[in-house]
Amino acid sequence: SKKPVRVAVTGAAGQIGYALLFRIASGEMLGKDQPVILQLLEVPAEGPQKALKGVMMELEDCAFPLLAGMEAHGDPMTAFKDTDYALLVGSMPRKQGMERAELLSINGKIFIGQGKALDAVASRNVKVLVVGNPANTNAYIAMKSAPSLPRENFTAMLRLDHNRALSQVAAKTGTKVGEIEKLTVWGNHSPTMYADYRFATVNGKSVKDMINDQEWNANVFLPTVGKRGAAIIEARGLSSAASAANAAIDHMRDWVLGSSGKWVTMGVPSNGEYGIPKDVMFGFPVTTQGGKYEIVKGLEIDAFSQERINKTLKELQDEQAGVAHLL
Ligand code: NAI
Repeated sequence: SKKPVRVAVTGAAGQIGYALLFRIASGEMLGKDQPVILQLLEVPAEGPQKALKGVMMELEDCAFPLLAGMEAHGDPMTAFKDTDYALLVGSMPRKQGMERAELLSINGKIFIGQGKALDAVASRNVKVLVVGNPANTNAYIAMKSAPSLPRENFTAMLRLDHNRALSQVAAKTGTKVGEIEKLTVWGNHSPTMYADYRFATVNGKSVKDMINDQEWNANVFLPTVGKRGAAIIEARGLSSAASAANAAIDHMRDWVLGSSGKWVTMGVPSNGEYGIPKDVMFGFPVTTQGGKYEIVKGLEIDAFSQERINKTLKELQDEQAGVAHLL
């Protein structure tokens, strides 16, 4: 049987953590033959650490055959020791009345510390997924704080936006989500993201031709996907958690086990593709194989798409500028 791998999860006692850990331990993320050791990080305060112990008691009570070990930590320097995968979920989300600069600076400190800790103690091949918002910029900060690790191993989660877009397109076209290929989401995990079905197909047929309604695209589809997080908060009184955890599983599984030629969306550092400046952590269409992702190249960007891409890029560059003094 396979040797266990180490999976670090931060914010492990939070809502997403609660929807995520059990699925990792059951083998849904890395395969039903891959034992895992969970290295769980929470803030060191008594309350969150106690809640984390409770979650670990429940993990124990599931008697997952693939759960080869678990640890509770209050310090990233121990939580990330030798870790093969790191899911950075814990962060300080924006609270009512909080200035953007304040949010960026609080998270800047968290993700500088976690980036440095990964740099110091994680496996040299660690694959990092940042979920905690602002996800793209937090991933950028962590990458910049870990100069000895490959920059392409730092990624941000756009997969929830991707999955939201898939469901909206399936409903509009009366097709099944599993039949839709070549959909993607460009840019920032924020309402400025650009979900793009121009290349999407269902059994070889063009989704754009099936929909044939640019007014719906611009005024219904994009706002629905972009504001979906807010709609969930409004309905549930809490932010999306199970769907976010599901997207994290999808992102890591496809990265590690491959997407079989299919496009998926990942937030990854640009190498200059599509005019996105190097290192900007940007949602791109990718295919994955053998533990590596490759950005899909050569797609035509029409005027409407360029305008949307410019807008989400501008927002990311403003966020980057907002944390530049910390790095
Ligand atoms: P939550 O508030 O329920 O849990 C967050 C947990 O992180 C808390 O238990 C907190 O103690 C912990 N935490 C905070 N700072 C930490 C640190 N420095 N180290 C370790 N743990 C720390 O929040 P929830 O609902 O689980 O969401 C987590 C994050 O994910 C939020 O930032 C949220 O905005 C983001 N999110 C991102 C999505 C995406 O698509 N990228 C989708 C949904 C949520």
